Amino acid sequence: MGFDHGAGGATGTAGAGGATGTAPRLRLSIVGTGYLGATHAVCMSELGFDVLGMDVDDGKIARLAAGEVPFYEPGLEPLLRKGLDSGRLRFTTSYAEAAAFADVHFLCVGTPQKDGEYAADLSAVDAAIDGLLPLLSRPCLLVGKSTVPAGTTDRLAGRVAVEAPAVELAWNPEFLREGFAITDTMRPDRLVFGVASAAAEETLRQVYASAISAGTPVVSCDFATAELVKVAANAFLATKISFINAMAEVCEATGADVIALSKALSYDDRIGGRFLHAGLGFGGGCLPKDIRAFMARAGELGVDQALSFLKEVDAINMRRRARMVDLAAELVGGSFGGMKVAVLGAAFKPNSDDIRDSPALDVAATIQRRGAAVAVYDPMAMEQARVKYPQLGYRDCALSAVKGADLVLHLTEWPEFREADPAALGEVVAERRIVDGRNALDASRWRAAGWVYRALGRP
Ligand SMILES: NC(=O)c1ccc[n+]([C@@H]2O[C@H](COP(=O)([O-])OP(=O)(O)OC[C@H]3O[C@@H](n4cnc5c(N)ncnc54)[C@H](O)[C@@H]3O)[C@@H](O)[C@H]2O)c1
Repeated sequence: MGFDHGAGGATGTAGAGGATGTAPRLRLSIVGTGYLGATHAVCMSELGFDVLGMDVDDGKIARLAAGEVPFYEPGLEPLLRKGLDSGRLRFTTSYAEAAAFADVHFLCVGTPQKDGEYAADLSAVDAAIDGLLPLLSRPCLLVGKSTVPAGTTDRLAGRVAVEAPAVELAWNPEFLREGFAITDTMRPDRLVFGVASAAAEETLRQVYASAISAGTPVVSCDFATAELVKVAANAFLATKISFINAMAEVCEATGADVIALSKALSYDDRIGGRFLHAGLGFGGGCLPKDIRAFMARAGELGVDQALSFLKEVDAINMRRRARMVDLAAELVGGSFGGMKVAVLGAAFKPNSDDIRDSPALDVAATIQRRGAAVAVYDPMAMEQARVKYPQLGYRDCALSAVKGADLVLHLTEWPEFREADPAALGEVVAERRIVDGRNALDASRWRAAGWVYRALGRP
């Protein structure tokens, strides 16, 4: 059904959100202010919209309202403060306030993996709909951004039609990368609108007018296609990473060098070099749980065979972690008992403090369980790591983490580690032995400084 997005919205004269003259200015609410939602809220206020961020987590909302980003994302905090100072950006824990305020509501709540299952846990999506829907009495657009299994939007649209007929639902999956979240939100490489009406598409075009006028392509499609674009993109990226990591396994068996191999492959335009970097594999709050949820949904739809390759993609990825532990054990003579191991990196990737399904911490915890004393250092993720892995030791710099170490593991490729001086670190370790889990260090520099340097997929 159609709707009048401007109904109840503030009137403005500036170009906010692409509105001009005396056209009504869209007001946006962002439900769920985690990595995705907080970034979306801040960037939309930067674009000139009036934005209300809403979350059920009081602590998170209090920090955001005080101008503090509860996670690390380069450049986000100054923009948050700017939005708050401008009066265009506010935060609340009240569904009623969000419902009364906005013409467009973005759903950005988490969709983690269910405990003990591959499927996505949609309880936060359903809870947000339960909280918001009864309060939406005037026409508005509800836009899902969370990553959900195909069929979710159709199911929710059925509820919307019955419980809040003035409301229309759309799905607009998000592709931002942590560490580049602002650029990716302000200038996305594509916009996908899962819509059921021209009016819904028109409203989304107004919200994203700035990116669209700068050339961002828009794909408008049905709900299921929009939902699938997101998980298909993540499945492809995960497959590319696991492909090169599978080649790394073969390289290890043949004495070949996966870095030279991937470089040679990358010169083929049809293959390209991105996401073709062998190492410890992927982690984080998206790729692992998204490919598993995709497999689970395919099973429900009776097309599990179509995605059976993703099981192998996942298995290759997890085997890299096991291989890293084996290689580390080999270097310390087979047993971790009584060994001191330094782990450089805790976040699942550099430029983030996100430790969800972090390969680095997974490896660190396994080695600690097998008897080593483990000292971890990460430039940004220490606070989160300490809470989730209290059994590990933590140090406040790389030099202090490697002090007295029998083995150093480089597990998250922060620039700080790439630029570290192997001679200086070599002065304080017990043994100059390093495994480069990210194939990111300059092997010749480390070897020249007297280190035994080993890496995944390389001789
Ligand atoms: N983080 C990313 O880089 C990224 C990128 C693209 C897509 N996504 C997708 O976006 C979604 C959110 O991911 P995230 O990383 O921001 O997760 P997150 O865990 O950082 O944030 C989710 C937020 O939702 C809040 N929430 C939970 N239930 C709620 C409710 N009923 N009402 C209001 N708020 C509620 C939580 O308190 C939390 O602040 C997921 O589906 C994820 O797959 C994330």
